[in-house]
Amino acid sequence: MTKVYTYEDIKRLAKRRMPKLMFDYVEGGAGRELLIDRNEAAFDDIYLQPRSMVHVVERSLKTTLLGREWDLPFGIAPMGMCNLAWPGTDRMFAEVAKRHNIPLGTSVAASTTLEDMFDYAGNSVWFQVYVAQTDELTFDIINRAKSKGYDTLLFTVDVPELSPRTRDIKNGFQAQFKIGPRQFLDFALHPRWSIATLLAGSPRTANFPADDGQASFVRTASRARVDWDYMARVRELWPGNLVVKGVLSPEDARGLRDAGIDAVYVSNHGGR
Ligand SMILES: Cc1cc2nc3c(=O)[nH]c(=O)nc-3n(C[C@H](O)[C@H](O)[C@H](O)COP(=O)(O)O)c2cc1C
Repeated sequence: MTKVYTYEDIKRLAKRRMPKLMFDYVEGGAGRELLIDRNEAAFDDIYLQPRSMVHVVERSLKTTLLGREWDLPFGIAPMGMCNLAWPGTDRMFAEVAKRHNIPLGTSVAASTTLEDMFDYAGNSVWFQVYVAQTDELTFDIINRAKSKGYDTLLFTVDVPELSPRTRDIKNGFQAQFKIGPRQFLDFALHPRWSIATLLAGSPRTANFPADDGQASFVRTASRARVDWDYMARVRELWPGNLVVKGVLSPEDARGLRDAGIDAVYVSNHGGR
């Protein structure tokens, strides 16, 4: 395996190994992608003031979040269709999360079922849901996560409609894989990825039955109906930790606290 030391190394390697279609899906943002740079700049602007003369022979980054102790103060965000990056990515994330005792979100649009992810990661995995095209489908899948034993639900509210991801539109990216001449050429130029993916089977949104048009994952479905009443219904349905993902205003955060939500996940969806 090629040695990597920095995030930039990883990115360079990924760009070489992955078809452009997949690399752009992971790296790209919405519109002119200005927010991606602003997010990075915001982190770069944070300075820590070190204190000396502190006895630091024993060090720990452990932290408590949502009622349990984690080994590191960060986790892995939920991402749809991870196995598009490379076969087995979901499982690798799950095993890493379990081994290092960090939280991992698994997306409703994941390429591995929520049941398998729980089997791999145990209670290090949280289930992330978007509202689906029907409430029945949404509440069914939330109940499925509950029966499997998930204790934390991430309810994502920052995608009322899918924002235009310019690169994905140009590349003809679709959640359920379709191969036209352009994609064929892209895959032919990345044979390692293509052979590995061919052997593993084309990734799909695994939480939904393959042949059922009604119950499939519709990436472009409107989620605009989510409001305070909707949130109250989700709160009623989910007895465990309920985290609302994609909150950026103090008013919303206060409202969610008053509505009995356990935590807000402050995020602009990585500028996506
Ligand atoms: C490839 C990819 C797929 C993503 N899919 C989802 C998803 O299915 N659900 C979701 O809530 N967020 C999704 N996100 C957004 C991430 O969960 C996360 O919000 C983003 O990477 C930025 O991190 P932050 O929110 O911690 O700032 C995705 C991000 C990437 C890069």
